Amino acid sequence: MKNNNSSNSSVSFPKSRFAWLWENMEGRRGLFTVALLGTVLYNVLQLVVPYFSGRLVDLFLELNDTGASISENAHTFYVLIGAMVGLTLFRVLVVYLTCMSYEHVSQYVLFKIRNFLYNKIQRQDMKFYSTYRTGDLMTRVTGDLDAVRHNIAWVIRSIVESFTLFGAAAVYFLIMDWKLALSILVISPLIFVIVFRFRRTVAPKHALLREKLAGMNTYAQENISGNRVVKAFAREDYEIAKFGRANNDFAETNIDTHNTWLSFYPYVESIANLMPIVLLVVGGVFIINGQISMGEYVSFSGLIWAIANPMRQMGNIMNEFQRFNAASAKVMEIYYSEPEIVDAPDAIPHPGRFEGSIEFDHVSFRYEDGNLPVLKDVSFKAKPGETIAIIGETGCGKTSLIQMIPRFYEPTGGRVLVDGVDVSRYKLEDLRKNIGLATQDVLLYSDTIEGNIAYGVSHLTAEEVVKFARYSAAEEFILKMPEGYDTIVGERGVGLSGGQKQRISLARALAIEPSILILDDTTSAVDMETEKHIQHSLRGLDFNCTKIIIAQRISTTKFADKILVLKDGRIIEEGSHDELIAQGGYYKDLVELQLGESVEALKASAG
Ligand code: GTP
Ligand code: MG
Repeated sequence: MKNNNSSNSSVSFPKSRFAWLWENMEGRRGLFTVALLGTVLYNVLQLVVPYFSGRLVDLFLELNDTGASISENAHTFYVLIGAMVGLTLFRVLVVYLTCMSYEHVSQYVLFKIRNFLYNKIQRQDMKFYSTYRTGDLMTRVTGDLDAVRHNIAWVIRSIVESFTLFGAAAVYFLIMDWKLALSILVISPLIFVIVFRFRRTVAPKHALLREKLAGMNTYAQENISGNRVVKAFAREDYEIAKFGRANNDFAETNIDTHNTWLSFYPYVESIANLMPIVLLVVGGVFIINGQISMGEYVSFSGLIWAIANPMRQMGNIMNEFQRFNAASAKVMEIYYSEPEIVDAPDAIPHPGRFEGSIEFDHVSFRYEDGNLPVLKDVSFKAKPGETIAIIGETGCGKTSLIQMIPRFYEPTGGRVLVDGVDVSRYKLEDLRKNIGLATQDVLLYSDTIEGNIAYGVSHLTAEEVVKFARYSAAEEFILKMPEGYDTIVGERGVGLSGGQKQRISLARALAIEPSILILDDTTSAVDMETEKHIQHSLRGLDFNCTKIIIAQRISTTKFADKILVLKDGRIIEEGSHDELIAQGGYYKDLVELQLGESVEALKASAG
């Protein structure tokens, strides 16, 4: 498997990150916009409330100065207090509602993108699955996607909040006294220089951190699902130590990433603290010169936090934003990925059964990530209903060859035809629904045996399930299971032997009554007697079906209409059992090897 983890920092996407988020907010865009406006509102209110309260107090003091008694103005006093409490409550309400809205929108987007990604991943082709590691994909739909959610719920809000607060305070200052305001504000661009430099330092760290997380998840996933191997080799301690190192590495990278801001923090803090000092100095001079009143000075110093705090917050925001950047690139990579093997625009619908003729016409093939050709100029034909056996040493290309028929991979040269039409011309679903495939490594789902057999056909009756279990010689052992056909198998269920799994997988392939049945070493783990039973039932199926059977045993290939001997991706011998023995090549040697006697001796003893 190729390590694909660090190769995509330069990938470009059809949309920018924010355009992509906006696209996925469809249905909640109004709410999100209202939440943003709410954020602007409550931050402006943060300044307006103290402003008005100050003004109202002034008004009150004026009243006092004119000689009117406070008790006479009690009514005004209560109105003022009421207004202030009212405004504060209103602000709290707006904060509450906007927070709820951000949370709602972010969860909505999370849900939407996660479903979309799952759909994407399901529909990918084989190449995708041999490129991406499961742990990495899991990280994308969990941790990475959560960083995207956090961006909506917190980062965007914080950006708007900081800029509103800063902007409102700046405008307010400028209106009060533009000279004093400018002397304070002139320092602020320095913050942007620092934050920009911080961004450059921290961005690669977030990318690295994310890789470490994916790496750790991959370790965990592979070891949990491959625990039998770990146990068999008594490698628990080794694996625990290996995971411990990955975990430690992740923790250290995490600390390092989050400490990055610490080295920038003193500068930002100094600048933020410089502001009150500038205010003190410049403001003092202005007061002495009579340019501003004491009241104005107090207003300035009372609001200086609204300028300084957003600056202090910048580091946090940038940090989280970089986390979003690293994570969203990973999510968008899957979001915008397209399988290469898809329906042609003018694909031929073929809803019904196929006749089942197969033709390989000078087929060559090489894996995109491999440098050697795997199939070289392979040509053969199978008539409807025929049985073709493929035999050859391990790694010669048998599995690769059969994967061309359901179009898991496409030939790099030549054509594969089913019923005389290039397979790339059919709609994928129509083609694949007609092919029953039992793969070399059997995967059963965590479901009942019945559910596994009926996987490809949802309306299969219990009687039919039993029929296909009989065909694949599985009935006997299924009935011995604690709950028969209702026994849960797969990852968390009762363990099955290799041969038992193979037989269930064969029943599953037969259950769709395919026009083409492909068995990749499907009876390799069953005993000779059981295999004989399976051979017999495959010859007597009650539906028409062309069979391609990959096997290592002569007993399996013997009854085939045609046997193909594959060597290094080429067909070196082709014919029936008897023809190939008569030819006296690889196949004859294999027969002798497996039967332990020379063919001549066997014939003699038989005769
Ligand atoms: P057995 O199942 O062991 O009997 O072998 P096989 O005849 O089925 O061989 P298969 O078609 O699986 O592989 C043929 C060659 O292709 C081998 O050299 C493999 O190493 C190579 N191969 C198989 N799958 C891949 C793949 O996904 N990528 C690359 N690059 N090479 C592959
Ligand atoms: Mg194989």
